[in-house]
Amino acid sequence: MKTKKVKLKLKSNVVNVLKIIGVILIILLIIFIYYRKQISNITELGYSEVAAKKILFDDNKEYFMTVKENKTLNAAIEGDNYKEKYIKNYAQIDYYDYKNLIKNVNTLLSKGYSNGDVNIILAHGNDEDITEFAKRERVRYLEEFFEFPYAKLKNYDRYLAYTDETGEDEKTTVIHVNLNMDKTEYDDAVSVNNFGYDMLVNKFHALSEMFEPTDLITVPEAYSGGETYQANRTAIAALSQMFEVAKTEGLEMKVNSAYRSYADQIEIQEYYRKWYGDNYVKNYVARPGFSEHQTGLAFDIGSTSTNVFANSKEYVWMQENAYKYGFILRFSKKNEVITGYRSEPWHYRYVGKDIAEYIYTHKITLEEYYVMFLDK
Ligand code: DAL
Ligand code: ZN
Repeated sequence: MKTKKVKLKLKSNVVNVLKIIGVILIILLIIFIYYRKQISNITELGYSEVAAKKILFDDNKEYFMTVKENKTLNAAIEGDNYKEKYIKNYAQIDYYDYKNLIKNVNTLLSKGYSNGDVNIILAHGNDEDITEFAKRERVRYLEEFFEFPYAKLKNYDRYLAYTDETGEDEKTTVIHVNLNMDKTEYDDAVSVNNFGYDMLVNKFHALSEMFEPTDLITVPEAYSGGETYQANRTAIAALSQMFEVAKTEGLEMKVNSAYRSYADQIEIQEYYRKWYGDNYVKNYVARPGFSEHQTGLAFDIGSTSTNVFANSKEYVWMQENAYKYGFILRFSKKNEVITGYRSEPWHYRYVGKDIAEYIYTHKITLEEYYVMFLDK
């Protein structure tokens, strides 16, 4: 009898314990569901799960909830560098997928840069450039130089030095420095590493002695005045079309020079040095490795009616029509400073129709086009 009673008591105790556990589990489940609902309310605003978990217990939760789809704010709260005092700044700062984004933003803000300044800085360099830039004291001329999308943070000191030294305006300064024109021509040249129709070869952008274009063919006899020249296949096709159209307008042109190997350029340079002297060479003849004739995309063009192309009606026609076939007049009088050569009315460069049209319409040089669109 007694044992039966004890057993029953034990059974009811177990039932009670199970009931309590059940109630606790239900409470925990309700709390969990409530918690998940809170998190999802936050993630629905565009925050990540990690960010949402922090926001849920943050003093500024209400503020976070008023800002939607803000990747910078998300990155800030998600990481270890979040500073509460900059919460409203983060919301106004453009997002970049950089490891040190928030750390650098904090440093820049602490130096007194505005949100707008920070956005300018972030837009002009990669994570490494920005990290370096953030180390320096707050700079002047920020908006002036960085108004131009192609201005580079890492060139800032050079911009400042160049504008101080030359008195050039900010735009010219940025373009010239990006082209390395504040350095020594030839000696400080960088190697060309893009070999498309848009490649830039000049006194600051060099080809190696080994560089030989791949797609060279012979210039048709009809356009070569009895000489043998080679050039890029596509460029020759465009040139032929151009010459044929010119012919229908009573104009006759011929090629006087096209592809020149590195060795050819040595010969040419020596020839001109001997007959015309150093000054002429400096102004009109590229050093080997620095001539765009080595690309196979450049042509010296003459008229069959006169030896002075600049005085020919063909030259007048070329100035207005060459771009339609993908050619640009490469060395004009007005661009001597930037191209580094005296005017060469005879020298045309194939760049393809789109670029030629842009350069023609905007009255710029290949150098400027390179800075604006190609130099990444
Ligand atoms: N005359 C041009 C600059 C050249 O030698 O390539
Ligand atoms: Zn030439």
